[in-house]
Amino acid sequence: MYSEKVMDHFNNPRNVGEIKDASGVGTVGNAKCGDIMRMYLDIDDNGIIQDCKFKTFGCGAAVATSSMATELVKGKTVQEALQVTNKAVMEALDGLPPVKVHCSLLAEEAIHAALWDYAEKHHIKIEGLEKPVNDISEKEEGIEEEY
Ligand code: FES
Repeated sequence: MYSEKVMDHFNNPRNVGEIKDASGVGTVGNAKCGDIMRMYLDIDDNGIIQDCKFKTFGCGAAVATSSMATELVKGKTVQEALQVTNKAVMEALDGLPPVKVHCSLLAEEAIHAALWDYAEKHHIKIEGLEKPVNDISEKEEGIEEEY
């Protein structure tokens, strides 16, 4: 039921760990399943994401989506990173079973939370970035039906 790419990123997750003195750190969870994800971003003076690492205490799909999300945001500008939605992450993984769609939301929201932290630390506003939630189960109502 999982694509080969999902299995690959689950078995060999990329960019696991933390970044010391990260430019931005974001942690989000899902109270319903109890899973938690933390993203670290290293952003240079030009607003380019030089490095991204994650720690996920969660299901296999959450690990695979965080791994893919870190790969997708690396080398991107802050604005481009906003385009790395849960949909984009799922597409890059060749899809997820419908019951696992919510896991990819955790990855999107964790990136947003890390960007939000970066923006606050640098007293800047990132166009199009909304304040992230700590618990994405508030957001996911009806998400499964959308796909
Ligand atoms: Fe909760 Fe996957 S079951 S993130």
